[in-house]
Amino acid sequence: MSSHRSQAQETARPLLRVEQLSKSFGGLMAVNRLSFEVEQGQVVGLVGPNGAGKTTVFNLISGYYAPSGGEIYLDGVALAGLEPFRIAALGVARTFQSLQVFGNMTALENIMVGRHLHSRAGLLAAALRLPSMRREEMRVRQDARRYLERAGLSDRADELACNLSFGEQRRLEICRALAAEPRLLLLDEPGAGLTQEEKVRLAELILQIQQDGVTVLLVEHDVDLVMGLVDRVLVLEYGELLAAGTPEEVQRHPKVIEAYLGTQWDAATLDAPTPAAGPKGG
Ligand SMILES: Nc1ncnc2c1ncn2[C@@H]1O[C@H](COP(=O)(O)OP(=O)(O)OP(=O)(O)O)[C@@H](O)[C@H]1O
Ligand SMILES: [Mg+2]
Repeated sequence: MSSHRSQAQETARPLLRVEQLSKSFGGLMAVNRLSFEVEQGQVVGLVGPNGAGKTTVFNLISGYYAPSGGEIYLDGVALAGLEPFRIAALGVARTFQSLQVFGNMTALENIMVGRHLHSRAGLLAAALRLPSMRREEMRVRQDARRYLERAGLSDRADELACNLSFGEQRRLEICRALAAEPRLLLLDEPGAGLTQEEKVRLAELILQIQQDGVTVLLVEHDVDLVMGLVDRVLVLEYGELLAAGTPEEVQRHPKVIEAYLGTQWDAATLDAPTPAAGPKGG
């Protein structure tokens, strides 16, 4: 690893660059010529009303959907059209809007699944139960414990995931994604359904992830959670970028104020903005 950085300020290179990205479903443009950048090391919030296209953007970046147009670059490498497993191997991990943990596996086993990208032993070695495989298994298990600790679940290692609280399952899911050692982590509404106390733990976890050098793109409806956490905010509406900037800039942005007229930015949620200002663009 080259940690010899010059003291002079480096121009931050975007880790993620999205250019003119589009996705249509039949006649519906879910994402419409969307361009934005995410700098290495930042936590960036992707917000907007229901149906704005946030999850579709995640599905495009992670390769679950092929774009109808445009390009996505991870540190200069074009991702559009690649298979999800290739994009994962290039360093993109994600969680899902609907919680996805393996309920009938233990917490530790869940993390081990996420760790498999880093497991070197081949299938044959595993099938033959070769010593190299057993060593590998031990290493994966040890590594998994570190991520379990990160999730705050060390004492629940052997508990079935289905017996964990919802908040614990969310943290487990995030740390399973983290166990693949991504450069970019996409979190789709990780705060949904959490108690206030669990949201605080979630925020702490995301900040720790950032300190470890992982760049985070976060979809979240809880404005307080987003604004207190992120370096930058992207506001999406009808698949287009309505505004982008620091939380302060975005909250002052005339288009954002107009779109959310009648709702307060310090209200609990960005869901269903009142259309008091009339339909955008007429
Ligand atoms: N697989 C699909 N087939 C058809 N239409 C889709 C598909 N996925 C998303 N859409 C449509 O694309 C638009 C954007 O959906 P998307 O799920 O990306 O929104 P979102 O911003 O994540 O919303 P939410 O906040 O409710 O999660 C919506 O109109 C949705 O109905
Ligand atoms: Mg969504």
